[in-house]
Amino acid sequence: MSFPTLSSPSKIGSLTLKNRFIMTAMGSNYAESDGTCAERIAAYYEERARGGTALIVMETSSIAWPEACSMPNMVGLSDDRFIPGLSALVARVQRYDCAIAAQINHSGKVSQEDVVEGRPILVPSLPPKTGSGMFRLLTDGEIQHFIKSGGPDGKGPRYKVMNQRDITRITEQFADAAERCQRAGFDAVEIHGGHGYLLASFLSPAINKRDDEYGGSVENRARFLVEVIRAVKEKCGRDYPVMVRLDAHEYRVDNGIEIDDFLTTAKLAEGAGADLIDVSAYGNIGVGIAFTEAPLPHQPDAYKDFAQRAKQALSIPVMAVGRIELESAERAISRGQYDFLGLGRKILADPAVAQKVTSNQANTIRPCIYCYICVSQIFINQPMLCAVNADMGQEHLPLIATDRQSALGKRIIVVGGGPGGMEAARRLSEAGCSVSLYEQAPDLGGTARIAALAYEPNGRLIDWQARELKRLGVTIHTGTRITIDAIKALKPDHVVVATGARREAPDIAGKDARNVFDGEEMRGLLLGGSTSGASKLNVLNRLVVTIGRWMGATRSIKLVREFSRLWMPVGQRVTIIGGGLVGIELAEFLVERGREVTVVDPEKKLAPELSIVRRARVLHELEEHGCEMIRNAQAIRCEPNGVRYQSNEQETFVSADTIIIALGAEANPSFADDLTAHGVKSSVIGDAAAVGYIDGAIHSARALCQQLLSQWQ
Ligand SMILES: Cc1cc2nc3c(=O)[nH]c(=O)nc-3n(C[C@H](O)[C@H](O)[C@H](O)COP(=O)(O)O)c2cc1C
Ligand code: SF4
Repeated sequence: MSFPTLSSPSKIGSLTLKNRFIMTAMGSNYAESDGTCAERIAAYYEERARGGTALIVMETSSIAWPEACSMPNMVGLSDDRFIPGLSALVARVQRYDCAIAAQINHSGKVSQEDVVEGRPILVPSLPPKTGSGMFRLLTDGEIQHFIKSGGPDGKGPRYKVMNQRDITRITEQFADAAERCQRAGFDAVEIHGGHGYLLASFLSPAINKRDDEYGGSVENRARFLVEVIRAVKEKCGRDYPVMVRLDAHEYRVDNGIEIDDFLTTAKLAEGAGADLIDVSAYGNIGVGIAFTEAPLPHQPDAYKDFAQRAKQALSIPVMAVGRIELESAERAISRGQYDFLGLGRKILADPAVAQKVTSNQANTIRPCIYCYICVSQIFINQPMLCAVNADMGQEHLPLIATDRQSALGKRIIVVGGGPGGMEAARRLSEAGCSVSLYEQAPDLGGTARIAALAYEPNGRLIDWQARELKRLGVTIHTGTRITIDAIKALKPDHVVVATGARREAPDIAGKDARNVFDGEEMRGLLLGGSTSGASKLNVLNRLVVTIGRWMGATRSIKLVREFSRLWMPVGQRVTIIGGGLVGIELAEFLVERGREVTVVDPEKKLAPELSIVRRARVLHELEEHGCEMIRNAQAIRCEPNGVRYQSNEQETFVSADTIIIALGAEANPSFADDLTAHGVKSSVIGDAAAVGYIDGAIHSARALCQQLLSQWQ
């Protein structure tokens, strides 16, 4: 598909943009701890500018630094001492004909750094007391990062209800920050009026209970925002472009913002001088699933209708956000349903999205797999990471792989075609090595194939990796179990071992029964490979599985995902032993296919390997589907009709037609050990080195490639 509309220029007020791509604001925690911008954050934004985006909205930045910050390494805008760092960053971005806006914000009730330091938090009125469902899902390691969130006295946040003086002072701080950004060279500012921060808490009827002219009607609740827009325009001049981010809806919030409130607010913002409305949404963070409804929606095109309604109501441009696919944006913009495509996660996963689209190479875009690792890092006050793009946040360090001379002609063998092996092959090939990859299964993907079956976005990554290897000319041998002797005969300069984890079901009583399958057997039944599970099936089921294999149907993840909605060699009642990433994603897959699922796990926390946000979503969904999840189960035993276990010193039995053991993955460097014993130089990555799933595999591949390339320099 071509994207003429996305590639066409347009305007925000006096600012002309070269195409319709806007990188939305994303807090990174890459700024310095004193609020200044230095090399790390500048290089990160420069990379996105180089990638062809027309406008970058820099991350949430505090107009009142050190106050009003929602993360430890937040950009400060409250003093002229921030200007040199900001100016340097802006200049780096503008070098690529990319405009940049600062997102000016006061974090209001989300100002966790004020809680940490014992400062009062500014609110329109006292917020209702709510517990967070998220907290109980955190692992002990994650909880460590929240240790300071009780404040110096451990009593949690202290609130200060804002009076008129506070409102006037904060309005001036917004205007001063905007003017400082203008002096630093920013092309525009975006006022953050969404996501539960200060201005949004005035806009939300759920939080704002004031009875003065800042509370009650929509017009009153929007008064503070309107005053801020006017003050910014007055200070920076009418022509200085001001964007405003608003929530069109607050998900799972009683008496929250609704579309009509939003449309009235947007019109008031336009009247006050706003040059663009950025249509986002908010979700009650206390409810597990809500954060993946907003502001990071799981559903594609989640806020499209909101953007379209805004476009109909306003005469200024509208930016849509929220997991928007390129084809959808091209159609919508060309039909006049909105003006700009706001991209968040897609630009983290591949900073060159815009450039690839505008140069007809959209099929080379590295896909986001919607794993929520990026934002979960922010939740635990850590620098942002991307599962699929291990270079993100490292742009300030020299990327040795760009020096092709040192690697040119080196002969590399990669053993294992999972995400880690493919990533190493891709990087080394890009660096100039001659790479051959060997995979024993008939298809590339390794265990990520089963992960793709359970969670569709994972499949896009495997497909992209396979396409990239082909494009780069990597020699791929699938269905080939390469031996040590064969490797020795090929005399490679280096061998990368990415053979994956050893998966053996632990010693659970009764595990050999016909109704019990381990992960390998299940994978073999659904996707081909190991045939050991088939012998446990009845004649009819065995026949269907055999025909599926014979016709090659089990090789297509897409086909298996669809076909498994109609039939699977799995009974109606399924008990999964093991509530880690694999068990929980499998439960999600089975529940979606109408099975009654129970998960039994010996640990007290489920799915610790999943990012917090994805974990919260999937556990919420499983609960909603009636999936029972048993934690702390001991003495687990498989029986002909179900699983018996002990919990709280009580024995319990859960009936099951099929039992799946999803426990027992461990690192397996044995192939590399054999190579070493034969004098062949090798390195181990991915699950073979340490079980770390897709993100671990991708990141370890990068680390190894950097190490090899620096050795050869
Ligand atoms: C890691 C991360 C940090 C974010 N931080 C901010 C922020 O600082 N300000 C903001 O307005 N939105 C923030 N967002 C929301 C994004 O701007 C965007 O609206 C959202 O991710 C939906 O777009 P997408 O589906 O293209 O990712 C953040 C999103 C992510 C993934
Ligand atoms: S971390 Fe995951 S969700 Fe975030 S951008 Fe990367 S792939 Fe997408």
